[in-house]
Amino acid sequence: MRPSCRRTFLKASAAVVTSAVACRSAMAAGPVGVRKDVTLLTAAELDKYRQAVKRMTELPETDPRTWTKQAQIHQNSCPHGNWFFLPWHRAYLMHFENICRKLLSDDTFMLPYWNWTTTPRIPSSFWEEGSPLNHARDITSTGEVPAEYVGRSVIDAIMAIPDFVTFGSGPAPGLRMGPRRSGQLESVPHNNVHMELGGDMASFMSPLDPIFWLHHANCDRIWAEWAQTHSNPADEQWLKLPMKFVDGTGAAVESKPEDVLDVRELGYRYDTQPEMPLFLSARPFSVRVEIPAGLTAAASFQDAPPVVEPKMMMAAAPMDLRKLLSNLPSNPETPRPATFRLVLGGVEPPEGGAPVSIRVFINCDYLTPQTPISDPHYVSSFTFFGEDHEHDEHAGADSVRYLDATAVFRRLYGGREYPREDIEVALVTVDLRTQKPKEQHLTARRVKIEAVTKDDEMM
Ligand code: C2O
Repeated sequence: MRPSCRRTFLKASAAVVTSAVACRSAMAAGPVGVRKDVTLLTAAELDKYRQAVKRMTELPETDPRTWTKQAQIHQNSCPHGNWFFLPWHRAYLMHFENICRKLLSDDTFMLPYWNWTTTPRIPSSFWEEGSPLNHARDITSTGEVPAEYVGRSVIDAIMAIPDFVTFGSGPAPGLRMGPRRSGQLESVPHNNVHMELGGDMASFMSPLDPIFWLHHANCDRIWAEWAQTHSNPADEQWLKLPMKFVDGTGAAVESKPEDVLDVRELGYRYDTQPEMPLFLSARPFSVRVEIPAGLTAAASFQDAPPVVEPKMMMAAAPMDLRKLLSNLPSNPETPRPATFRLVLGGVEPPEGGAPVSIRVFINCDYLTPQTPISDPHYVSSFTFFGEDHEHDEHAGADSVRYLDATAVFRRLYGGREYPREDIEVALVTVDLRTQKPKEQHLTARRVKIEAVTKDDEMM
């Protein structure tokens, strides 16, 4: 452990204590409704959502709140692959929930969420003939979102990511500006659920499928829970960006990320969150972390034709990084000396054909396309969503993806010397429908391991 670590941790927990007080006074503001797991709704509660959807589809075309116009807001401005992804979708859901309330004349309506971790099938109420909740999809009523993307251990690992960038995507100057920098919550469960479901869910018109709103409520829940013990960005560029929506009455409305940071202040919490906030991590940090010189292993590659064997990419690991990788605490409860963030740059989805996802392995000398994800060298899988140029001109060659590789390094080298001079990253392409490896493996234009230390993170 680096000598400064302990001090930093103490500093952080002191900040936690002060904020508990500030938080309770915010609580007094108004009643806090509960967004529930959709499988726990009463028939009457579920019917409210059904009715709200129906009424939105029946509004006259001139009304800015119609079902189709709601989806168009998404198609025209949803940010993906950057740090506005989470706050934009939170605000979008909140205004949508208000529209539902208005149309139902019922202020107690709460949007439910679909917890794909505990219920990997779409709830049966979203398949009923003639129901407003039914929608054309590629997945079947008995199809499940694979645990590889949404399983308990995948979500637990995401919840344990210390920094916002690796968790919830990286900086950009505007909603759809700059290359994609997708964090793990977005590119693993979020993207995968969109693509597994297929139909409209596989496109930026995805809010046409009534399950979309429950899918995003679950992503929002994960963010809300993560933020109970972690810090959101403090950068003005993030906090102050105006985002435009339509409110309950159909009037134009603006929200900024700084307005949506505390769900209780917005009038809701999730049923998995405690009634009173235990504490809120108050010390914000800047996400423009400088990666300390010498702690980054990087390599770049020329465009290579797709290969049949898993694509292996090698980066030299400088001495300092190897030192940091040596003698990692083998107990997951022990604070990390650093987060080892794997950065994959310029991995582009194959053109045409069936949707794929990618399995990522580190330092696996015996890797074949069939190596299972239970292998200790496995880092994570991720899925592409809207990353063709039709959807997003910023997708593609310059895009990057952040994955937390700390657990893998700990598993492989915990309590031991890091045995290699290099770091080898390999990608295996999987057919999304069959979950079988494909012959065609994709390549990354750049790979990098960054050691993000606690000090950078709390800067
Ligand atoms: Cu903006 Cu999950 O879509």
